[in-house]
Amino acid sequence: MTTTSKQDRVLIFDTTLRDGEQSPGATMSHNEKLEIAAMLDEMGVDIIEAGFPIASEGDFEAVSDIAKASKNSVICGLARANFKDIDRCWEAVKHAAQPRIHTFIGTSPLHRDITALSMDAMADQIHETVSHARNLTDNVQWSPMDAIRTEHDYLCRVVEIAIKAGATTINIPDTVGYTIPRESADIIRMLLERVPGADEVVFATHCHNDLGMATANALAAVEAGARQIECTINGLGERAGNTALEEVVMALKVRHDVMPYDTGIDTTKIMGISRRVSQVSGFPVQFNKAIVGKNAFAHESGIHQDGMLKNKETFEIMRPQDIGLAGTSLPLGKHSGRAALRAKLEDMGYPMADNQLKDVFVRFKDLADRKKEVFDDDLIALLRDAGAADQNERIKVKFLRVICGTEAPQSADLTLEVDGVDKQITCQGDGPVDATFKAIKEIFPTTARLQLYQVHAVTEGTDAQATVSVRLEEDGKIVTGQSSDTDTVVASAKAYVNAMNRLLVRREKSAPDSDVKTVKYTDTV
Ligand code: KIV
Ligand code: ZN
Repeated sequence: MTTTSKQDRVLIFDTTLRDGEQSPGATMSHNEKLEIAAMLDEMGVDIIEAGFPIASEGDFEAVSDIAKASKNSVICGLARANFKDIDRCWEAVKHAAQPRIHTFIGTSPLHRDITALSMDAMADQIHETVSHARNLTDNVQWSPMDAIRTEHDYLCRVVEIAIKAGATTINIPDTVGYTIPRESADIIRMLLERVPGADEVVFATHCHNDLGMATANALAAVEAGARQIECTINGLGERAGNTALEEVVMALKVRHDVMPYDTGIDTTKIMGISRRVSQVSGFPVQFNKAIVGKNAFAHESGIHQDGMLKNKETFEIMRPQDIGLAGTSLPLGKHSGRAALRAKLEDMGYPMADNQLKDVFVRFKDLADRKKEVFDDDLIALLRDAGAADQNERIKVKFLRVICGTEAPQSADLTLEVDGVDKQITCQGDGPVDATFKAIKEIFPTTARLQLYQVHAVTEGTDAQATVSVRLEEDGKIVTGQSSDTDTVVASAKAYVNAMNRLLVRREKSAPDSDVKTVKYTDTV
């Protein structure tokens, strides 16, 4: 039996699939969005912001399919302050058992300048659009974008209008990550004190992390009376990202003594979804990231290890098991069989159907032949590559041999399979990776620009797998490809090709599809 009263309960609103997916390069496929939504629903997220339906056909379909498949979570879609956006949003979310429309407009002086709306005209527009949304559903969220930089009197005025027009949740965004904890709390407190009807609605906090204070700002808002936190898995999101779900949820759990608020999140699901979001978005999790970083539970120094052996609480404020990390994990090797692999993957939060396991097992055996011990992180990298192969990639790396050493030039002999046809070429370059990338571009010419090339070792040792991330940009579209291999040059070639395949998918959808970034927030008509 739960003893949580409305006052103690903080709703978790996840916007990984909207604000998170908007982050340049973090685009997810339709199926990936559905999979992440199912995981969020399963872990107890109260509200899932599934996308921005007017932004593209793809976004619309993703939101409506997520709405249809939803079980317990409220499914929310984003809409600017105009009837067309709101109607489109409703068409997508209405399939959910519990739909929500989230409509917003930029209220700060800077935003009013851009939209060329006077204070009065904007107030009228807020009244009309929120009323319109409320005629479609009784679950309406309204956000004054850039609330933190909006004049306090005007903020109180527009919040009151939105409440009178029928908004049930008022979200206070720190759109540019500018606020500090004290101010974040003061604004919520001010609204609760000054706005008539404020006690009838839920106040939400939506913080960006530009100054690294998103988690602190969100928790300060809760202490002042906000009862909904907007956040994303791994803190994914525009620029420096949003408040990280795992951070606020674990902070509320671990420091329940001083912040006596509950969430409905099953925290043991945190690690699994963090890994999956990192895989599908192509955004690696920083090693020392709070809660979900690779080092978050690693104790390296002698003093720490000694303390840990005597009493874990010396240096550990939460247990790895609380976030779904198995305590100690024994590596697999080339003698491990299918059953051991299945059990290990299940343990890591990746249950496999027989047909999936078949492919993963072949890849595992291949890796185990080249690498003495296969660690959890190796398996995660391997699952990502298996997932990429599932997506019917048009270009595949068939063969690669590089000649490198102290004598220039280095060269790459490469065969790519393009739409089922093998194409071979040998290219020289400034190092083996440069030669390989030149060969790829020679076979498959592209105007895409390499924005980022990043390598890190997945595990330790000279036989460690390297994970390579490649970010490409073409006509404003940004995609990230990733791959892992014990050979860094092979991983680089596969990551580049993976990014190319993602670009091709986006090109195909490109015409009317485009994406959220082409729909300007400030474009309110
Ligand atoms: O950061 C922001 O202001 C937003 C709004 C659309 C809520 O994401
Ligand atoms: Zn935002």
